[in-house]
Amino acid sequence: MATILRSRDWFGKDDRWGLAHRAWLRAEGFSERVFAGKPVIGICNSWSELNNCNAHLRQVAEAVKRGVWEAGGFPLEFPTISLGEMLMKPTTMLYRNLMAMDVEECIRAYPLDGVVLLCGCDKTTPAQLLGAASADVPAIMVPGGPMLRGMWQGAEFGAGTDIRRLWDDVRAGRRSEEEWCEVESCVSRSAGHCNVMGTASTMASLVEALGMTLPGAADIPAADSRRLAIAEESGRRIVAMVNEELRPSRILTAQAIENAIRLQMALGGSTNALVHLVAIAGRVDLELPLTLYDEISHTTPVLANVKPSGKYLMEDFSYAGGVPAVLKEISSLLHREALTVNGRTLGENIARAACYNRDVIKPFGQPLYPEGGTVVLWGNLAPHGAVIKQSASSPHLLKHKGRAVVFENNQDLLARLDDPNLEVDEQSVLVLKHAGPKGAPGMPEWGHLPIPAKLLKAGVKDMVRLSDARISGTSFGTIVVHVSPEAAVGGPLAVVRNGDEIELDVPGKRLELRVPEGEIAKRLAQWQAPAPHYQRGYGRLFLDHILQAHEGCDFDFLRGRDRENGQTPLKRFPNPGL
Ligand code: FES
Repeated sequence: MATILRSRDWFGKDDRWGLAHRAWLRAEGFSERVFAGKPVIGICNSWSELNNCNAHLRQVAEAVKRGVWEAGGFPLEFPTISLGEMLMKPTTMLYRNLMAMDVEECIRAYPLDGVVLLCGCDKTTPAQLLGAASADVPAIMVPGGPMLRGMWQGAEFGAGTDIRRLWDDVRAGRRSEEEWCEVESCVSRSAGHCNVMGTASTMASLVEALGMTLPGAADIPAADSRRLAIAEESGRRIVAMVNEELRPSRILTAQAIENAIRLQMALGGSTNALVHLVAIAGRVDLELPLTLYDEISHTTPVLANVKPSGKYLMEDFSYAGGVPAVLKEISSLLHREALTVNGRTLGENIARAACYNRDVIKPFGQPLYPEGGTVVLWGNLAPHGAVIKQSASSPHLLKHKGRAVVFENNQDLLARLDDPNLEVDEQSVLVLKHAGPKGAPGMPEWGHLPIPAKLLKAGVKDMVRLSDARISGTSFGTIVVHVSPEAAVGGPLAVVRNGDEIELDVPGKRLELRVPEGEIAKRLAQWQAPAPHYQRGYGRLFLDHILQAHEGCDFDFLRGRDRENGQTPLKRFPNPGL
């Protein structure tokens, strides 16, 4: 039976509105042939000159259009807001849900039978995925790919990761200001997202593991002609997906989400992916507990030798076989029967994948690290969990006790961190409060607290830091983030004081405030909520509805599917693989 196209409600009628819909669109120069029952394919483009990572996506959109036309569809490109990680303040995470709503409502409100989503920079990928999951119209994603490798003084230079190292060297007096200026033109050599296994690379890879891209689409460099070829192929494929009624609800299953977590661990991927995957699960009626994350982390080796956990960059990763090669390596741990956008299973897609460089993608039996990069911590300081990326931490700090040096907020941190009189040593634990979803607001990537200048000059390279913020996927160091509940809603983090002892035990998965429980309860009873950051506008909506980190930082009213009788509670994650 032929598929009933939703676009026919706009273009397929002979009444006044049917004529108006066709006539107004013909203002763009289309002939009547485009209305002869062709599936209308939206190309949802997050291109923006304010977002360098996505600056090439108009060219990618042209390639998608070629494929759509060739397959018998009618492509129409449309913009949404774009979230440029570098320029948008205070943080793109404040706007992820706004973009997700923009994507969802555009898909729903316009005469689209299918949609191709063009993403790249950190939050554009999860925002589009969230929107597409909720709209549930056939959808395929085309990530923009990583930028070319940075090159400086004859060596490779990773965006974010190596800049952080260099900045520490400049602050410690080991590098000159001239070198600092020189590097500016060497870091970001093309369009495309950051070239390490940061959040953007991680999320693009997880989209492939979820089955929402064609195989191999995640990591082809942005400047590589094959990026346009796979965009064209995605355009052809979405037309077939419309005819097959292959919607996100058939692809974004519990099995697919488990596959994505597996890949995140094998990549040593960004901790931010955890927040986004919990939110995506929530959109498809699933409550994804952090305990499942932990179990999967414990049983998945890290294979990708890519910064910040390893030594190579995304170009090397792609040339070594990329995401399909890693998926093939961990295939015994995957739900290979999970359906993907090309109509085949994940197992079928990776059956012929190959690895071309065993130093970049390690064999399953000789991993970079024996278990996953992300560890979930529990304890009286984080009753709803906290997260550390152990693969980017210093081994000698994974079990550590130290006295807290507390910063009440980011302004306090910036004002006092480099004060020569700050009472801090390398055993101290740096604590940042009010950097979470409500407290900052928007849960910015402030969790990579800089090491105080006087310790840097003394040669200290790492120390334990913790906060209710996030960290960039390009960060490295012994950094605990996503402490939940956050300080701004009265989590125990709110009552940590200077000099309190904190115990971090990553092997034991513990994060404890070593203060008597009675004293903690007394402090919490005296705690007063801070004044809200916003009284009006989107900021007010955000503060009224944002969920905590362990709930994915989605808005409460966006979780679950649309139903005639309103929202229903999320189902427990079925945990099918364990
Ligand atoms: Fe866009 Fe890093 S700034 S991915």
